[in-house]
Amino acid sequence: MILVFGGNGQLGRELSRAASTRAVALHALSHAEADIADSAAVAAALARLKPTVVVNAAAYTKVDLAEINVEEARRGNEIGPEVIAEACAGAGIPMIHVSTDYVFDGTKPGAYRESDAVRPINVYGRTKAAGEDAVRRIHKHHVILRTAWVYSEFGHNFLKTILGLAATRDELRIVADQHGSPTSASELAEAVLNVASALLHDRTLAGTYHFAAAGSTTWHGFASRIVEVAARVTGRNPQVIPNATADYATAARRPANSVLDCRLFVERFGFLPRHWTVGVDATTRILVTSSQNAKTQKDASQKDATHVA
Ligand SMILES: NC(=O)c1ccc[n+]([C@@H]2O[C@H](COP(=O)([O-])OP(=O)(O)OC[C@H]3O[C@@H](n4cnc5c(N)ncnc54)[C@H](OP(=O)(O)O)[C@@H]3O)[C@@H](O)[C@H]2O)c1
Repeated sequence: MILVFGGNGQLGRELSRAASTRAVALHALSHAEADIADSAAVAAALARLKPTVVVNAAAYTKVDLAEINVEEARRGNEIGPEVIAEACAGAGIPMIHVSTDYVFDGTKPGAYRESDAVRPINVYGRTKAAGEDAVRRIHKHHVILRTAWVYSEFGHNFLKTILGLAATRDELRIVADQHGSPTSASELAEAVLNVASALLHDRTLAGTYHFAAAGSTTWHGFASRIVEVAARVTGRNPQVIPNATADYATAARRPANSVLDCRLFVERFGFLPRHWTVGVDATTRILVTSSQNAKTQKDASQKDATHVA
């Protein structure tokens, strides 16, 4: 059985969904059910559920807020992974830990390889890098999976923010000089399940890997694609105007390039990520269609109510 910490996050929820589709036994614990920085809670979960693999999908992911909530970010990204690694090492359970492209500083001209030096430029990246170090130091039988620009139907993410803005504004200004690969949490979940089953049978697979969608774009390219696909359903087509990072102040600095080279993952796990547009198109269509359906239903029930009155 796979035990997932961070079960209510984007990845956590997609892991539960993917496992039920594949009929894989998986138990997901939310933040409320187990704080990963609480060693007693983590130990109790392992003792009660007796997993064969543990996945840490929990993290403090609010990149800008992390600049001021440093201790909270450390609990989720640094102390938590350390606690899970200690517990898994003690119980002899392999661990999959999810990390981020933001461990890099973004100055490399090409895609980042696993062997490239880590040099985070914000609190989120620094705490995630420290979490990776803890896992490597404490528990040999681990896979660290760095991913990037995650979105899904669930939770808060860039795709959902853009859909919200596109519904009300005629013009969106979006950063066009940061490069990365928008990655669907559902595809990431599939990758994690593949790793879980492979890692159980082959300890030599332990190590650090990159997994993100194929191809790359900018936040502006990502937003333009979302708006274009949504417009086919809604008819609303706001202008997406490129913006420079320098003209858009945020609390946290972000790497200008965080494209990940995923060849090692493909080679060792035989799982090929799809082009980023495939997942973005699918998730956009699902969200826009369900919101249109909800609106149609609401309009219909209001009309019924008027007739009754
Ligand atoms: N989102 C991205 O764009 C992105 C990009 C690159 C890498 N990643 C990595 O991918 C992984 C999954 O991210 P995601 O997008 O699924 O994140 P998410 O949607 O923010 O989910 C993270 C979950 O972790 C929980 N959590 C936070 N602190 C915790 C703690 N101390 N103990 C237990 N649970 C805690 C959160 O609960 P609360 O909300 O209740 O606090 C939330 O449910 C993370 O490792 C993240 O660093 C994400």
